[in-house]
Amino acid sequence: MTGPDLELTVDGQVLRFPAVWLRDNCPCPECVAPGTTQKLKDITDMPNGVAVTLTEHAAGSVAVTFAPDQHRSTFSRSWLAAQAPGRDGDGDGRTEDDKQLWLPADLDPETGRFPQASWPRYLDQPAERIRALGAVRRLGFVLLRGVPAEPGTVLGVAASFGYVRETNYGRLFDVRAEPAPGNLAFTSRAIRPHTDNPYRDPVPTVQLLHCLRAAGQGGDTGLVDGFAAAAALRAADPESFGTLTRTPAPFGYIDKATELRASQPLIELSPRGRVRGVRFNNRSMRPLRGSPAGITAFYAAYRRWAELLAEPARQLNLRLAPGDCLVFDNTRVLHARTAFGLSAGSPARHLQGCYADLDGLASTLAVLKREETR
Ligand code: FE2
Repeated sequence: MTGPDLELTVDGQVLRFPAVWLRDNCPCPECVAPGTTQKLKDITDMPNGVAVTLTEHAAGSVAVTFAPDQHRSTFSRSWLAAQAPGRDGDGDGRTEDDKQLWLPADLDPETGRFPQASWPRYLDQPAERIRALGAVRRLGFVLLRGVPAEPGTVLGVAASFGYVRETNYGRLFDVRAEPAPGNLAFTSRAIRPHTDNPYRDPVPTVQLLHCLRAAGQGGDTGLVDGFAAAAALRAADPESFGTLTRTPAPFGYIDKATELRASQPLIELSPRGRVRGVRFNNRSMRPLRGSPAGITAFYAAYRRWAELLAEPARQLNLRLAPGDCLVFDNTRVLHARTAFGLSAGSPARHLQGCYADLDGLASTLAVLKREETR
């Protein structure tokens, strides 16, 4: 076939590849540095008006010659089939389209659908690491069990799949009742479902919480799937959903040494309009700007969203035991805790937490999967 573009029939389906796309993805050593996937050519190096003038089919490949400069590119058919343009999706695995949305009822441990893994097996077996990290990508969290309840171990858990994101709270932070807390997390109060650090840009996308000591009473952990809740809001009240995706909500955090601010919508959409992130933290919301009508509309939508997130049927309740470490997607899963007792004689609740990022986790998972298929 000759013509401006390439058409290829794969499994009875006609795939169409624009000439300019093919040319930009030419894998020849003139176009890609050998031994890497790094392109050598800039878009402005490409001649204007490239067109396919000759197509030669071989067993597993297709060679294409382009006008006006007779450049020749050879593509493997399987690569073309896998990369075919025209497929939907944002392509980064981060939107609701690539997730399995859940309600607690879907994650009954009896059915084996509750995402958990044993830390010794995780360390030992790549298949267990793939399962655990895959759960964070798909469901938004995994509960690792049997992580030694020693201070500092949470950093090793983060290092097992990525890089610790250091913040003003340190490389790790202790979550326990403090005498003069600068953050309500460091008290014994109940804390409603929230995401952490919405006042940072970029926000830390993974959070870890490792239980060193459980409270004698209370201090239970709750998790809510923010993407499932956002989908429910969109279905029930599209107007509120739209308002929350369009209004930049200001967040801030201030203490003696720190002053952080960021403004982002409470529900973030991808360029294709799919849910890609949620931020929700009443403690650190700051005064909204905008027209009086816009502000009133935002508050109505915000209240609706808060009520939906607080529905008891959405909250998965867990009681972390010493050695449990939760790893969760802080752009999707909200976390909460009940108040806990501080009475003399009852053990003092102590968790250690740290932040990391989803890109590192996704990279580790991809490399593990690559090695598994070798
Ligand atoms: Fe938190």
